[in-house]
Amino acid sequence: MKFFIDTANLDQIREGNDLGILDGVTTNPSLMAKEGIRGQEQILNHYKAICDIVDGDVSAEVIATDFEGIVSEGEHLAELHPQIVVKVPMIREGVKAIRYFTDKGIKTNCTLVFSAGQAILAAKAGATYVSPFIGRLDDISTNGIELIAQIVDIYRYYDFGTQVLAASIRHTMHILECAEAGADVVTCPLDPILGLLKHPLTDIGLAKFLADHNKK
Ligand code: E4P
Repeated sequence: MKFFIDTANLDQIREGNDLGILDGVTTNPSLMAKEGIRGQEQILNHYKAICDIVDGDVSAEVIATDFEGIVSEGEHLAELHPQIVVKVPMIREGVKAIRYFTDKGIKTNCTLVFSAGQAILAAKAGATYVSPFIGRLDDISTNGIELIAQIVDIYRYYDFGTQVLAASIRHTMHILECAEAGADVVTCPLDPILGLLKHPLTDIGLAKFLADHNKK
């Protein structure tokens, strides 16, 4: 299972990368705005800065919602750096654009996916990644992990090449359950990743080992 970090914060990306377990980064317009990154030039430079930190795919989301706009913006993003994956919303024009990018050999991440039907369309269009948002489903009393498992099953059955990228992850249990459900990738903020490290018996055990070693 690949680990992506879901942030546009360069310090957190560096911290995650220093752990040696990062395979890529996902961003979205809200995450960029949260870091105060605004305006075309600043946004493009920020994507380049992210690519310089991490070896792996970096999702950069288009703002346009019409086919021509998505294609033009996506091609521009893809030219920025070989690690860029064009993130396209699951809308009619987005599906058409994903097919266009696929035929051109440009990697895509189909975002804002909330159903298995949408995931089938993304795979049929040749998306590199499909991003079901599990936390936002849980927020409205719908089981996000069940959607991950359903999409993984369908993709295996038909041998679709699209990778299931579980997004909108809120906590460590989401990560574990995504692993059990067979997600290809999880993208999560730094805290849930670091949360996986924690176990009180590790801390107690280490303290005892060190105390025993230091006994005279
Ligand atoms: C990543 O690709 C998504 O944009 C992100 O995980 C959404 O997370 P949120 O639901 O916490 O905003």
